[in-house]
Amino acid sequence: MGTLSNLYADLDYCRTAAEAKSGPFDGDFAARYEEHFPTLHGLFQQIYGEREGLLEALAEVIAVAQESWNERPRDLKELDAARAADPTWFTSEKMLGGVCYADRYAGSLAGVGNQIPYFTELGLTYLHLMPLFKSPEGDNDGGYAVSSYREVDPKLGTMAELRALATKLRAAGISPVVDFIFNHTSSEHEWAQKCVAGEPGFEDFYLIFPDRELPDQYERTTREIFPDDHPGSFIQLPDGRWIWSTFYHFQWDLNYANPAVFRAMAGEMLFLANQGIEILRMDAVAFIWKKLGTPCESLPEAHLLLQAFNEVLRIAAPSLLFKSEAIVHPDEVIEYISPGECQISYNPLQMALTWEALATRDARLLNQALVHRHALPPGTAWVNYVRSHDDIGWTFSDEDAMALGIDGHAHRRFLNDFYVGRFAGGFARGVPFQENPKTGDARVAGTTASLAGVEKGDDGGEDRVILAHALALSTGGIPLLYLGDEVGQLNDYYYRNRPAEAGDSRWVHRPFRPDGAYAVREDPRTMSGRIFQRLTRLFEVRRETPEFAGNELIEFVTNNGHVLGFQRPGEGTRIVVLANVDDHPALLSTHRFAGFEPDAVDLISGEAHDLSGGVNIPAHGVLWLKVTPRTAG
Ligand code: GLC
Ligand code: GLC
Repeated sequence: MGTLSNLYADLDYCRTAAEAKSGPFDGDFAARYEEHFPTLHGLFQQIYGEREGLLEALAEVIAVAQESWNERPRDLKELDAARAADPTWFTSEKMLGGVCYADRYAGSLAGVGNQIPYFTELGLTYLHLMPLFKSPEGDNDGGYAVSSYREVDPKLGTMAELRALATKLRAAGISPVVDFIFNHTSSEHEWAQKCVAGEPGFEDFYLIFPDRELPDQYERTTREIFPDDHPGSFIQLPDGRWIWSTFYHFQWDLNYANPAVFRAMAGEMLFLANQGIEILRMDAVAFIWKKLGTPCESLPEAHLLLQAFNEVLRIAAPSLLFKSEAIVHPDEVIEYISPGECQISYNPLQMALTWEALATRDARLLNQALVHRHALPPGTAWVNYVRSHDDIGWTFSDEDAMALGIDGHAHRRFLNDFYVGRFAGGFARGVPFQENPKTGDARVAGTTASLAGVEKGDDGGEDRVILAHALALSTGGIPLLYLGDEVGQLNDYYYRNRPAEAGDSRWVHRPFRPDGAYAVREDPRTMSGRIFQRLTRLFEVRRETPEFAGNELIEFVTNNGHVLGFQRPGEGTRIVVLANVDDHPALLSTHRFAGFEPDAVDLISGEAHDLSGGVNIPAHGVLWLKVTPRTAG
């Protein structure tokens, strides 16, 4: 059993071992192996150190990579080549994402396939189907407890159908996205069962402790994620032992300190890649590495592991992208984003601060975030969303808030109260998620329309839905639509009567496809019709506006705390985005536009504006002003 030592000796060893199993490396694979093995080797050394048997573990990873490449379908190899020629394809203004549950939105995978004409009508280029793998009966955290990564939930279809759907989506210009739930498996996964039974080779797949000694020590510094389900980070097994379980008691955290776990998950990852998945949403990235005396979130090894998975991909499925799901402090969110780690990432800060601005009618925190926290490394992109299938947590930085004289703690309390409808005169109809009486923490659940005031019948509700999406569509990155929100779907309170859902209030915002709302989507006399027509107008304008590609954003000082402003530069032109979160119109004086030629046009309405008269923005209004900077002299 070897340790890792000399790079070139190890490179030869791993290649020879893999070739003995699966025959000679083909030319493309060999070239990528030579290019990426050194980085992977270095990462393994950093993560696992001098451990005996590490060389063999790495050799097995390479063997899995080679087998996977040999089996990779020809059309996916062609995709690999096309993406290599256009590596920043996902930063285009043409990108538009959609997300849904296959069962709730379309009944099954076949049903999703039948929706492709509609997706094309919307202009989707990316479709995230939420977990569709085999998982326990009853409560399974919406599929986020996976019992087998190689089997589709039989209620949805089969793996062959997933492959066929992926092919159909790609043919329609839509990149298939699924979750890679790699922090934990369900307690019914065969690895979990074997681990609990002490089967050789699986003892160290999860983190099991004989008594409370270490769990108590760890829990001094970890945070409770789902306190409604169980306190702390561990649950007790029937035999008295304790197992690490960050989320629900039926989701057990994998032990990445064991290289065999990396090898096993790399195999599952490449299997999914070969089904035609183009983007893997890396679930719960912050939690994958544990260390006593730390919060066990966003530790350096978590990044090294993601980078190592990424290197494996570059060798065996090079066109795949990783999307980070790190719903944490903004300083930490950014650390996951780089070409060598996660190329794209949710933008939870912009999401939360959009809601913050709507509640407070104050755009300053959001503006500050766009100025100071929006920049990204080249070759990466944000995924900008208005809401997801998860709760909204107020993940802004306390220091940022303090710079504006806002007390973070009190502000979070206000926002929670506001969005769950405890604030007199508020417009929102949301429900609390995981209120923790010990810490006072809570998060918020609700659909976009319900949170924005449509459900309550607030006058500004419709406009706020549009405003929030207009920001997600214009700040830079891939905008991601929660399907059904484009017709203003409302909260589904009936989850309280469904036993598997009653204990998790996020189901309030995961309604079934709102058929009635879709039926009237062309009818402007209905709320759904107006929202649909206004949003589809935004989608259309965005894809025709090259200034919206990429991520470059220039500050625009509005001098009005209610009005958010920023610029997206193009070649000789700019789009000035102005959004008024107030309940009253706002007038920006002509001085604000001194750097531009007076002739401008609002791309959303198509109306011409003469900037020498200043710009008036209606209550909850948004403008995408196309302007021309004055040339010097
Ligand atoms: C992610 C998912 C969330 C799930 C959790 C545990 O955060 O988005 O829905 O509950 O992971 O898998
Ligand atoms: C998921 C959960 C959220 C939790 C987060 C932690 O997004 O829904 O409640 O805070 O994961 O990463």
